[in-house]
Amino acid sequence: GITRHYTFNVRMTKVTRLCVSKSIPTVNGQFPGPKLVARQGDRLVVKVHNHINYNVSFHWHGLRQLRNGWADGPSYITQCPIQAGQSYTYDFTVAGQRGTLWWHAHFSWLRVHLYGPLIILPKRFDGYPFPTPYKEVPIMFGEWFKADTEAVINQALQTGAGPNVSDAYTFNGLPGPTYNCSSKGLQTNARVPEDTYKLKVQPGRTYMLRLINAALNNELFFAIANHTLTVVEADANYVKPFTATTLVISPGQTMNVLLTASTNPASQAFAMAVAPYTNTQGTFDNTTATAVLEYYAPTTTTQPTSAGTQSPPLPLPALPRYNDTNAVARFSTNFRSLATARYPARVPQAVDRHVLFTVGLGTDPCPPNRTCQGPNGTKFAASINNNSFVRPRAALLEAHYRRRYAGVLMANFPTTPPHPFNYTSTAPNNTFVAHGTRVVPLAFNTSVELVMQGTAIQGAESHPLHMHGFNFFVLAQGFGNYDPVNDPAKYNLVDPVERNTVSVPTAGWVAVRFLANNPGVWLMHCHFDVHLSWGLSMAWMVDDGPLPNQKMLPPPSDLPKC
Ligand code: C2O
Repeated sequence: GITRHYTFNVRMTKVTRLCVSKSIPTVNGQFPGPKLVARQGDRLVVKVHNHINYNVSFHWHGLRQLRNGWADGPSYITQCPIQAGQSYTYDFTVAGQRGTLWWHAHFSWLRVHLYGPLIILPKRFDGYPFPTPYKEVPIMFGEWFKADTEAVINQALQTGAGPNVSDAYTFNGLPGPTYNCSSKGLQTNARVPEDTYKLKVQPGRTYMLRLINAALNNELFFAIANHTLTVVEADANYVKPFTATTLVISPGQTMNVLLTASTNPASQAFAMAVAPYTNTQGTFDNTTATAVLEYYAPTTTTQPTSAGTQSPPLPLPALPRYNDTNAVARFSTNFRSLATARYPARVPQAVDRHVLFTVGLGTDPCPPNRTCQGPNGTKFAASINNNSFVRPRAALLEAHYRRRYAGVLMANFPTTPPHPFNYTSTAPNNTFVAHGTRVVPLAFNTSVELVMQGTAIQGAESHPLHMHGFNFFVLAQGFGNYDPVNDPAKYNLVDPVERNTVSVPTAGWVAVRFLANNPGVWLMHCHFDVHLSWGLSMAWMVDDGPLPNQKMLPPPSDLPKC
């Protein structure tokens, strides 16, 4: 491989969306941020200079960072944040991985603005296990708040209520054409074309869309009117191709899909749309954001859409209802690893450690002299096995490397729920959470089976759990309580999908396996930023192996200090 150098200048930049301008942190003045492209085996050197007044750090979401947690990025886990005026260089090699990944800030909710695609091409001459697409197009879904995002998160943390929802979903940073600035309403014919993402296609050609869900707090449905998509990759792992008209994609997940443009399209242009999937009783952004798929004119009978004209509304795709959990389950269970001789699925067949995590919301008592807006006057919290993760003052990875845990770590993270759980309970005895900076220590090469059980303590909802440092195989999922006697019979140990982010189904469970062959400290958390802020996270602390190439690399000299 070769070495590719990038510079990230993080600075405030004025951006206008939904008719309102605000100053947001950007990388090099770009929103969304720059697209990074590398080949499998390349080394990336990304020099970050922080010119804003907040701390920042960057995560290369889905990159395994073998033995090199120093480049992984979550603040206070693998590094202290890069403070205002400081710099840090992320230096890492993309070994043994290829596909669509992404990068994002990993401090507070800064990723709402600081994110971009990270595309790893196969080795030269390797090609894809499907015909080479005519063109590849990254499409990132995001969220846009008109209000100051730090104010939104602070409000959620201090009052203990759910956060204000975003004002729009976005396609590559653009909220779509349906917003009318003067009336502030949703007007299907009032177009603000500069706010709209448009993909132009040639009839008959096949495009590979590299989809990335960078939204903060919502899983999304995605569809293109009159078009069927073929899913070929999930989280940078090839899957057995399958077709779908509607996709479901959770925050943190990526998906490559093939789109074949019609040779005889029924219209010159079609809407692409995203809308949230959520099962909560709470509020959510229920807007549908649209973008445009437009054909290079196959005929001259229709005109492209343009500013101010009352063009006929685009054909809209039909999306499932916001709470259509069955549609989500049908889609999610379609994924299978490609599992060929060339792209084998290395599923751990034996298990050394069985771990059961309950994941969900809980509450904290309201602090004195404060009015809390959570359930029954409490503050919302979130937890795994009733432990709400507390961010340490110093980076865990350095403590682990230097074997200095005092004052940083508390007792080990519980690997079974502290109370019997039942997803149907409305008022269980474990509503109040405990707090602590806890990790699960693992010996090198431990094969872990992890069952994640959703609780319904504050209403059932799904949780997209993301693991740093590893991919895992998704063996099975189901609704209700996990049954340790009968459910293992449902496991797919042949060609389960390999991912870095899986949605624990609402009022259900998912079982995964991974091999702890990457020494370091690796965060695992819900990729809804509000749940991460409320403590829905933990970390695995993996020891070095006996061989020299199984040990953590030494820290870089410019590693930030807390
Ligand atoms: Cu994409 Cu820890 O996150």
